[in-house]
Amino acid sequence: KGQADKHFTYFVLIISSGIAVHTILPASKLPVVNETIYSKGEVLLQNLPSIVCGWVLDAKPNECILDMCAAPGNKTTHLAEMSNDQATIIALDKTPQKAAKIKESCDIQGITCVTAYAFDSTKCCSEESKGINSGPPFPPNSFDKVLLDAPCSGLGQRPQLVNKMTPKMIGSYKFVQRKLFAEAVKVLKVGGKLVYSTCTITEEENEGMVAWALEKFPCLKLIPAEPILGGTGLPNKGLNDAQRLMVQRFGPEDNELRKVDPIYKDSIGFFIAAFSKS
Ligand SMILES: *[C@@H]1O[C@H](CO)[C@@H](O)[C@H](O)[C@H]1NC(C)=O
Ligand SMILES: *[C@@H]1O[C@H](CO)[C@@H](O)[C@H](O)[C@H]1NC(C)=O
Repeated sequence: KGQADKHFTYFVLIISSGIAVHTILPASKLPVVNETIYSKGEVLLQNLPSIVCGWVLDAKPNECILDMCAAPGNKTTHLAEMSNDQATIIALDKTPQKAAKIKESCDIQGITCVTAYAFDSTKCCSEESKGINSGPPFPPNSFDKVLLDAPCSGLGQRPQLVNKMTPKMIGSYKFVQRKLFAEAVKVLKVGGKLVYSTCTITEEENEGMVAWALEKFPCLKLIPAEPILGGTGLPNKGLNDAQRLMVQRFGPEDNELRKVDPIYKDSIGFFIAAFSKS
């Protein structure tokens, strides 16, 4: 069925069950969302919690921002756009090909404020560094904001019918997360903001990491990971109720402390916490 009005030209295909909408001409200046636009890389897909994660970091012009585990660069480019391409964003990834891919994404999107390096973020802070502009490692107290979107067991990804990870592998992520966290705290400026996120659901990579960090780094203070769309942190996992309300856990769970809009429950499993450093 074809129809047109002043907002859209569109086709609605009525299949035996469900409805598919094919937008041909949107009234907004946004590009038409179809496979072609994705394959060119001018638009990158992100699931809702990843977008929220960018909002929580809230990149502003002239801020110096470190994205520690940046590949594939979807969050990095979001942050760059959020700052109107006027922040100084450094994106790190251990694998050279992945760092190159971030560069490529930025080029395609006309983003100039991002510099990507192939570098192991567990070693990204050094007293001997000559400064941010000479590349990693960086001196302590260098960044206004740090995004640590940590490597994780990824159990929040959907769809996921089979997972071959052993319990031992799942339990191993916290070690690298702790190393990364310690570096993040070092390179963050006093008064700066650190955002920690994962796309997994285990307590030890999420609430457990927050509790560990608050105990290990007295200079850190948990702050509300706003804007809040997800649920609270889980109970009895090292966070008190006030702290549980400051973090966001995305997933289908029900929540006694905060009412979550059902549309935000239908997302991948994800966790976001924000800290300030004094
Ligand atoms: C996708 O949209 C672009 C821009 O409007 C158009 O040129 C292209 O033909 C579309 N591709 C498909 C597969 O529909
Ligand atoms: C990043 O963007 C690409 C291209 O749209 C998409 O295929 C991919 O799933 C996205 N990855 C993440 C982790 O969001």
